Amino acid sequence: MMPTPQWARAHTNIALIKYWGKKDPKLMLPANDSLSLTLADFYTDTLVRFRGDCPGDSLTIDGQPVSAGALTKAVRVLDEVRRRAGLTLPAQVISRNHVPTAAGLASSASGLAALAAAAAQAAGLHLTEQELSRIARHGSGSATRSVAGGFVRWYAGTDDASSYALPVAAAPALLQDIRVLAVIFSDQPKAIGSTAGMAQTVATSSYFPAWTERAERDLAALLPALAAGDFPRVGAIAEGNALAMHALTWAARPPFTYFLPATLALVQGIQAWRAAAPVPVYATIDAGPNVKLLTLADHVAAVQEWLADHFPTARVVVTHAGPGIQYYPERK
Ligand code: PMV
Repeated sequence: MMPTPQWARAHTNIALIKYWGKKDPKLMLPANDSLSLTLADFYTDTLVRFRGDCPGDSLTIDGQPVSAGALTKAVRVLDEVRRRAGLTLPAQVISRNHVPTAAGLASSASGLAALAAAAAQAAGLHLTEQELSRIARHGSGSATRSVAGGFVRWYAGTDDASSYALPVAAAPALLQDIRVLAVIFSDQPKAIGSTAGMAQTVATSSYFPAWTERAERDLAALLPALAAGDFPRVGAIAEGNALAMHALTWAARPPFTYFLPATLALVQGIQAWRAAAPVPVYATIDAGPNVKLLTLADHVAAVQEWLADHFPTARVVVTHAGPGIQYYPERK
């Protein structure tokens, strides 16, 4: 069949149980299962056209050609799609990020998930979310989870076929009411990217074996808390898991951290506030200095007020649970 151009949209996600470390870097198999929430307001739209009149794969994001590193990740995804579809044509990829300027949220998860979906569809493959998540995984680990909406679990697996993501059951009220406040201290690119940070941690951090066990235990505790809609339990598990992940970096050689002084000040401030007032608000942090606060809809205004009092210069973006992959024949 003739490949047809196809737009797809994928949303980024925030992990409540973090992915940190690969057991097979070539196949992109993570050391542990992880679990995230797909976010409504941060997404990428991507168009893929397979065409014979291009010299090779090309990718622009917001009109700009990307770096060699970003293109390599995209080509890994395109190669997976071509292999499955029996295609050899190069692809023209046009991508647009809808992530509020410098929101401190990586667009690689949404970008590579949107690419996997658009490419598969353009190649005439009609795949399930589970199959698409395997393809997205070859571009970026966190992209595996951005294929589905709501709460999503990435099963680490033991080979290419068994490492995929699926939605996780959660109480409907929790899915509806959970809110994420991205608190932005810095929009500078991080000094150590997640791939290098993970590799250094796996190779040298004496805490790494303890981390994979901890992540497994946290996940086992989180699943029933999500199903029961027990937000304080969900938040406490997520905050503890994020801090355990960051402890790994201090125990690496050489030691490093993604925290800025403000990162720690916010985590400690939130913990003290929570102890003093009955406000369910919890922190989680990815491979950077910015903090994402988890709370419920009824408490967003109080958390925003508290942030304005204590961190008046930080930028804050509020969002909620978002959907899985969506397709558009034309750009919306
Ligand atoms: O897949 P990457 O390279 O974007 O790594 C993601 C790492 C964390 O964001 C820190 C954790 C996670 O599970 O998303």
